[in-house]
Amino acid sequence: MGTQKRTQEDISKEFNVFSANYTEDMIKCVPYYITLLNAFSQDYPSGFSPQRILDLGCGNGNVTDQLVSVFPTAEYTLLDASEDMLKLCEERFKGFNISFVKSYFKDFSFSENNFDLIVAGFSLHHCEAVEKQLLFKNIYKSLVSGGVLAMSDLMINKNHQLHELVKTNWKQLVLSNYPDDEKWQWIMEHYAEFDRPDDLNDQIVWLETAGFKVHQTLKKEDYWVHLKVKKSKL
Ligand SMILES: C[S@@+](CC[C@H](N)C(=O)[O-])C[C@H]1O[C@@H](n2cnc3c(N)ncnc32)[C@H](O)[C@@H]1O
Repeated sequence: MGTQKRTQEDISKEFNVFSANYTEDMIKCVPYYITLLNAFSQDYPSGFSPQRILDLGCGNGNVTDQLVSVFPTAEYTLLDASEDMLKLCEERFKGFNISFVKSYFKDFSFSENNFDLIVAGFSLHHCEAVEKQLLFKNIYKSLVSGGVLAMSDLMINKNHQLHELVKTNWKQLVLSNYPDDEKWQWIMEHYAEFDRPDDLNDQIVWLETAGFKVHQTLKKEDYWVHLKVKKSKL
């Protein structure tokens, strides 16, 4: 696709296909997936009890599944560009207080002071740097004072000098599960077309520029990171 802009339809189509065997694929193909998923149910500020939660790029609901175990009575909004992913979530979370939004991040209207917790699991790396910066500002605006943003993702820019090493380690995991190389080739095609990871340090600067205090938990395995940041009380 080169420099052509990816559209909502592209992401949606890609993840509609991906949704078929999603969790198994993620565990077998994404380094530290389970560790960085589990991090969503851990290490919140003491007494933190969110009432309203937004899951950005919910996929089949693996992050929300972590959250309902610790915040079962919260009101959830699950947002994704893929209708098939959203359908899986509708099936999975019957009985919880959940609404579903099919939207591209950039088209979602983030209302002010609305959410106590916003989460993003392996979804923001699909955004270009400029879109991430705008998103961080919108997320900040949309959190209440004392609210938390929690995110897990690959956080290394493709131009970083250690990026090739990250790929080498990543490939080892994939080949250990799918030895014939076909899966790795598919992942690299998806990675070239849809993935735009950025360095952790750049993202910290953008988060601070948006207003966040970055003093929260950081789990870092290689360049696979879980980060929590807080909108400080005034
Ligand atoms: C790799 S999956 C992660 C799913 C889930 N959060 C998890 O941790 O397993 C990324 C999800 O984000 C969605 N997504 C990616 N970019 C998006 C965008 N710009 N707007 C809305 N959804 C997006 C995809 O459709 C996909 O379901």
